[in-house]
Amino acid sequence: MATERTFSIIKPDATRRNLTGAINKLIEESGLRIVAQKRMKLTRAQAEEFYAIHRERPFFNDLVGFMVSGPVVVQVLEGANAVGHYRDVMGATNPANADAGTIRKEFAESIEANSVHGSDSPENAAIEIPFFFKPEEIVG
Ligand code: CMP
Repeated sequence: MATERTFSIIKPDATRRNLTGAINKLIEESGLRIVAQKRMKLTRAQAEEFYAIHRERPFFNDLVGFMVSGPVVVQVLEGANAVGHYRDVMGATNPANADAGTIRKEFAESIEANSVHGSDSPENAAIEIPFFFKPEEIVG
């Protein structure tokens, strides 16, 4: 399997509970390498643009409000089949449906406050990574 990169966000519900290290432990133990990482506070404009694909959804305004409610940690993860592999490590969007041992089963509070985001396809990873990182900030 070719080495691939995916984009990850540790969301405000997780940073608020001081879970960055616990989540990174699950990421690293799964075999993924954190090749870029920064903690930041999203602006409303950044959150709206990042989630623009969901603009028409009924949960859009709540989602944007949640994503700007506290710090996030944005990351680039690298490994074999990184996009699909990280989706397995995260678990289902709704923690009620997530498998045991996944990040969302262990830590998520709700379908909205679900602790992490991960790219849903290599095509979206290629859009999401440069949204937050310059090439020289990614060190493989
Ligand atoms: P994420 O993987 O970041 O992609 C979009 C986000 O919208 C998702 O995780 C959830 O945080 C949120 N989301 C998805 N579906 C719902 C829903 N039905 N109600 C509220 N939030 C949702």
